[in-house]
Amino acid sequence: TGGVTTIDPGYKNTGSCESAITFLDGEKGILRYRGYSIEELADKADFLEVAYLLIFGELPTQAQLDKFHADIKEQSVVDEDVKKILDAFPKSAHPMGVLSSLTSALTAFNPSSVNVESEEDMYKAIVKILGKFPVLVAWTLRKKQGLPLDYGDKNLGYVENILKMMFKQPNEEYKQNPILVNALDKLLILHADHEQNCSTSTVRIVGSAHTSLFASLSSGISALWGPLHGGANQAVLEMLNGIQEDGGDTKKYMAKAKDKNDPFRLMGFGHRVYKNFDPRAKIIKVAADEVLSDLGIEDPILDIAKGLEKEALEDKYFVDRKLYPNVDFYSGIIYRGMGIPTDMFTVMFALGRLPGWIAQWREMRLRKEPIGRPRQVYIGENRRDFKDIKNR
Ligand code: SDX
Repeated sequence: TGGVTTIDPGYKNTGSCESAITFLDGEKGILRYRGYSIEELADKADFLEVAYLLIFGELPTQAQLDKFHADIKEQSVVDEDVKKILDAFPKSAHPMGVLSSLTSALTAFNPSSVNVESEEDMYKAIVKILGKFPVLVAWTLRKKQGLPLDYGDKNLGYVENILKMMFKQPNEEYKQNPILVNALDKLLILHADHEQNCSTSTVRIVGSAHTSLFASLSSGISALWGPLHGGANQAVLEMLNGIQEDGGDTKKYMAKAKDKNDPFRLMGFGHRVYKNFDPRAKIIKVAADEVLSDLGIEDPILDIAKGLEKEALEDKYFVDRKLYPNVDFYSGIIYRGMGIPTDMFTVMFALGRLPGWIAQWREMRLRKEPIGRPRQVYIGENRRDFKDIKNR
């Protein structure tokens, strides 16, 4: 049988590791980073502070945070030859595929980040990727738009500079908009870590072979791309747009979602762990209202989303299966309000999840976890003799 007697599809009931980073309770809808509630962090911290907390375990002092940001800024330059790889992609390439490739390619331009054993070497690789990944994100967006690639401004905050690199129009002064900066900061915090989800487990298992941090993160980006995982935020907007174009007939889509013969799923609903409201979805739903009204945007898509949510919460099929809105259900509505293109939504998820992936990879390495290598139950052919091709 290959050594085991039972399997656990999708690891629904398997604990892969011990971790001190994130705690979540699916029944109670609780999410904490290093013991701090997501509600408090989203309200009182900024993203770089939360990144520091996740990676190193404590909220930083002002001096620690300033040094962390300074070390990251020092590493915020990307080798110009990386642009040659970016140039090779067609404009139609999905940004998640571009970023998975460029993140792995960074290994070639930063050979010292490959074999890291000491905490000091890990720190150097960590500030490198925290400095360079936002640049790659901005370059990927602007390349698709045919706009010049920019490094932003070292005097800006971490999140503010990301927005500047993404949105500064040529020959225009960057108009800092605190609504957008605060909204993105909060969204990135809410996406920063989520214990052993699919992409984080991917980063851990790839990293368990002592693969470099950048190559391990590249694998995580690929896993997050999937529509059942981080790709859901893009799929939600495509679904909502489809419903709107179809005359806003949410009942038809609810029926499709419940039809076993129809592969259609209500994207942004359901969760492997949360059998209650995803606490992040609650915060993002409120933020969506605030951001859109602050920006003076009346988006009918938000009303369709709320209508769908209301129907699902009263529908036996969804209630019986404890299917509630998850983090992806409302986030895309904010990104759209911020002017972020739909195919960049999952990239924004990756930008938020980066410190969580880093924290989990670092914990796995420091705890000297063994290489990941599960077993199987063999269900194939018994032993049989080779047949020459003329006798087959
Ligand atoms: C993320 O793991 C994480 O923490 C992920 C994440 C993170 O922060 O990293 O939270 C981010 O990925 C959120 C999830 C985003 N994905 C989506 O919104 C896609 C739609 N959701 C589903 O595909 C599904 O709910 C999953 C993938 C999220 C969870 O899948 P499970 O746990 O494997 O559950 P399942 O597929 O076994 O479904 C159980 C039942 C099934 O019905 P029955 O066969 O029992 O009759 O619920 C049904 C499913 O058909 N179901 C849905 C549904 N989700 C589950 N039916 C309709 N629409 C849905 N969305």
